[in-house]
Parts: sequence; C-alpha cells; structure tokens
Amino acid sequence: MATTIDDDQQGGINRRDFIYIGTAAFAAIGGAAAMWPLIDQWNPDASTLSLASIEVDLAPIQPGQAITVLWRGKPIFIRNRMPEEVEKAKAVDVKELKDPDAEVIGTANLPATDANRTKPGKEKWLVMIGICTHLGCIPKGQSAGDEKGPYGGWFCPCHGSAYDTSGRIRMGPAPRNMEIPPYRFVEDTKIKIG
Ligand code: FES
Repeated sequence: MATTIDDDQQGGINRRDFIYIGTAAFAAIGGAAAMWPLIDQWNPDASTLSLASIEVDLAPIQPGQAITVLWRGKPIFIRNRMPEEVEKAKAVDVKELKDPDAEVIGTANLPATDANRTKPGKEKWLVMIGICTHLGCIPKGQSAGDEKGPYGGWFCPCHGSAYDTSGRIRMGPAPRNMEIPPYRFVEDTKIKIG
C-alpha cells in the first residue's frame, strides 16, 4: 500500500516529493535479548525504532520512474534507471569527477564508478540519500516533469548543483556525490535499507 504525504513544507523538505511505501518498516533489533540492558537504559521511543531499517518493495517502480522513501528522517531516492541512463553513468571516467569517492556509507576510498554505487546484477537500481551535498537542499529529478540538469540526473535549484544519472556531482558548488545508504536486496525486487 502506498501513501502519499501532503504537500506542506516541513524542515525545508517539500513533502509533496515523498512517497512512502509502507511495506514492512521495522526495527533492526537483532540480538535484542543480549542488548536489553543497554536498550532499556537508552530507552528510545517507538518511532525511533520503527525507522531503524525499512524494507521497500521495488516491483511497482516502472523503468524510468523514481520514488522517495523516508529512512531515519532522510529522503532516499530510488530510481529504476533506463538502460541508457545506466550506460551513460558507466561511461564516465572517474578521473573526470569532482568527487572521485563512491560515497558509499561504511566504505572509504572506493572509486566513484557506477558499479560501486549500485549492487552487482542490479545496476538499474540507484538507491541514494537525496540530499544535496552543498547545503542540504533536496534536489529535483524524482518526478517526470522535474528539471534534471545537464547531466540528466538531479538538479539542485538552491545554488545550481547538477548530478549525473549515478547521483555524482558534476557541476555547481556541491562538493561530494550524493551518499549511498547501507542497503541490500532481500528478494529480487525488495531491498532492506539500514
Ligand atoms: S544546497 Fe544544493 S546547490 Fe546549494
């Protein structure tokens, strides 16, 4: 079941851009018994736990479409890229890039190839944190009619940063590629983020 959040502004984020796919959002609480004393002391509220990890069903996302889900309060852009978008992203020489790091959370010094920013065999899916690395605006490019910028990916209208079809910064003041969150495929068309 998909729920569309209304389009009021909150925290600088245009809520109209968000589609939350409420599949199975749940807390990552493996080893809960052993962790109980710590958890009890920390005592996070239920809403914090509920956002620790989420599962997202990708099956409804058609080629060329993108959705945005919320994970730990951040917008996660998920795009089912067209073959030509993938080819364009793969064809880029990393040496041309402003940020040569893949910016995959939990890794360091990983070259910013498209392969390193996606999962093997699942290259059409780009999953990244949709926050401009300049001053934190939410770039345009998720909706069909959005300005995507000269590199065909995403465009941040705040100060004119343009990202390519792999979410790498190509023009403007943003210093880094948009980040890739920790995620994995739990089924052929289902991912777990976090
Ligand atoms: S916040 Fe995106 S270009 Fe400044």
